[in-house]
Amino acid sequence: MIAPLTLRIRELARLKNAVILGHSYQTPDVLFGVADHRGDSLGLSKIARDTDADVIVFCGVKFMGETAKILSPSKTVLLPDPDAGCSLSESITGLDVRRLRAIHPDAAFVCYVNTSAQVKAECDVVCTSANALAIVEAVPQRKVVFLPDRFMAANLRPLTSKEIIGYDGRCIVHETFSSDSLTAWRRAVPGVRILVHTESPDDVVALADLAGGTGDMVDYVRKSSASDFMLVTECGLTDRLRIEFPDKHFIGTCVMCPHMKRVDLRKILQVLEAPRPEQVVTIPMDVSERALRAIDRMFELTAKGADGSRPHSNTGESTRLCD
Ligand code: 13P
Ligand code: SF4
Repeated sequence: MIAPLTLRIRELARLKNAVILGHSYQTPDVLFGVADHRGDSLGLSKIARDTDADVIVFCGVKFMGETAKILSPSKTVLLPDPDAGCSLSESITGLDVRRLRAIHPDAAFVCYVNTSAQVKAECDVVCTSANALAIVEAVPQRKVVFLPDRFMAANLRPLTSKEIIGYDGRCIVHETFSSDSLTAWRRAVPGVRILVHTESPDDVVALADLAGGTGDMVDYVRKSSASDFMLVTECGLTDRLRIEFPDKHFIGTCVMCPHMKRVDLRKILQVLEAPRPEQVVTIPMDVSERALRAIDRMFELTAKGADGSRPHSNTGESTRLCD
């Protein structure tokens, strides 16, 4: 008899000493069926940095696999679908950053983790949605070029006295949310807590009970005594939290990221069995070393716990939360 896909994947991961990381936007069969860890960008980066596994299978998009490889250069990092991109990551190149540096020589260059290795290599420090404000506040310069998400930059401005210079990158998921629909849901469901990802437009963020990253949202739901929540983000997070918090209600609309949803169990099994060359993440050494400096700087600046990422203990045999 052929074992179900999930069992074959788990067995192969054990034999190859592989750890399977699943971003919260992945589907429940990935997150709850095969992932060792599920969480946000920051939490998964830390797991990639600290793991003893020989192989990291990153169930997410390409920049996430690249970040794992930068943090663990001696490990084999595999992407089930190397064509899973990201509109933010693809909005800017390393050459664009160099041009901006010539225009703003006195600024700190902070880039969101949703960027390529080349872009990270050209920046001073990386940030995630969970620690963007802490990083902007911690850099010594008064002027900060924040790349590439225009909405994250706009959402930071009211929270800091620093000068924030933005760029025109956008997330194709979060740019679609509107303040009108949030106002209608608030009217329809009194007491609903509305949690908004900071990649969303500023008029949407202005209506939120919490604005932050996916890890902040998980934490808010975990701690809140409210019963109704609306997660203004990619659909996978709502699917995940419906399973983890069956007594809470998750209402409203969500939007699917076509890149995140390219990963499935069949591709995870295939990449573990016999990875094709393009599924193995490789980054030129000089780029990787410079990108690592920018990521390490993020860890240094947030070392005192200002980053909002709170690892949690085991929920079961093998799956751990990292947000
Ligand atoms: P988080 O950093 O909040 O996990 O989000 C990643 C992402 O791709 C958001 O669209
Ligand atoms: Fe990129 Fe947006 Fe998809 Fe996240 S949801 S991976 S930011 S396109």
